[in-house]
Amino acid sequence: MSATVTSPGRVNLIGEHIDYNGGLVLPAALSVSLTATVTPRSDDRVNIVADDYAEAGSRSFADEAHGSWSDPAVGAMREAVAMGLMKAGADITITSSIPAGAGLSSSAALIVTLLKATRTLSGAQVTDTEIAIAARRVENEYIGVPCGIMDQMAVAVAKPGEAIALDTHTLDYRVVALPPSHEMVVIHSGHSRALIDGRYAALKEECDAAKAAFGTANLCQLALSDVEAATNMSDTIRRRTRHCVTENLRVHAAIEALATSNVAKMGALMSESHASMRDDFEMSIPPVDALVSDAASLGAVGARLTGGGFGGCIVAYIDREARAVWLKDLLKRHPKARFIDAVTAG
Ligand code: GLA
Repeated sequence: MSATVTSPGRVNLIGEHIDYNGGLVLPAALSVSLTATVTPRSDDRVNIVADDYAEAGSRSFADEAHGSWSDPAVGAMREAVAMGLMKAGADITITSSIPAGAGLSSSAALIVTLLKATRTLSGAQVTDTEIAIAARRVENEYIGVPCGIMDQMAVAVAKPGEAIALDTHTLDYRVVALPPSHEMVVIHSGHSRALIDGRYAALKEECDAAKAAFGTANLCQLALSDVEAATNMSDTIRRRTRHCVTENLRVHAAIEALATSNVAKMGALMSESHASMRDDFEMSIPPVDALVSDAASLGAVGARLTGGGFGGCIVAYIDREARAVWLKDLLKRHPKARFIDAVTAG
């Protein structure tokens, strides 16, 4: 017996690096996706064939993560055994149209997909939220990436084209409709990055330092005046905290803007979010700043870096009718950039 499951990639529309700081985030599921088939084995091997990688991976459960593309699959299988969803190893085949290293959650999609497949095989009653929590555990504890819960929740519960407002403190979420006049266009900058490279972890550590200084686990709930008035921290820690507070306020405002079809406001919030990521959180790079700035000057109502940072994709908010010409002009100015996907109202 085998089980096949598909999960979407995700783009975060707004609310960056606040999913491990108690904030509200607004990711949307893409039409690019990953499909995996899991066939149980009776020994402890995890054999993986992926269309993205020429070489097949053959690993044992006992293997620790070592920076290999197959680590998420081994981690997911170890987690499935720990959850009682599997007894031993598996043969796994993976096909994916989610580019890796682009900030579109290819790793979360793989782990969530494999856990869902083992849930199907076992017939166990495990919710999608429990699957997302388990998938985050694989990233945090097995792979060693100290990520938040946004990506796993988005790929586990959102349907392609759907945005969700996710409270990362309670894990409550609801679908948010996008106005039909505009699209969220995802463009790869051509500069890849990996969460494992240490810069994501460094930002997380700075937020942990801010939590210790303010005596709270929820940086997003702090008052801006308290952040500006605090004297027991460096300017860097203060700016990281200010990003968390202002970004969370922007997500609340963005949800309101979408509910009232206030496209101009949504665009402005996205551009403010980019400035905060660039200046206060220092998670952007110059070629991404240039792409964001040109996306706006060529006609997008707003644009921003999306995902973990230091490269990867931008998301731009653009009138549906204007998209084709705008995209052609933008890609002409940025030859390394490429179109990935667009989120359109259903
Ligand atoms: C990565 C992490 C998420 C989140 C984003 C930044 O995608 O996996 O948990 O922190 O970066 O918003």
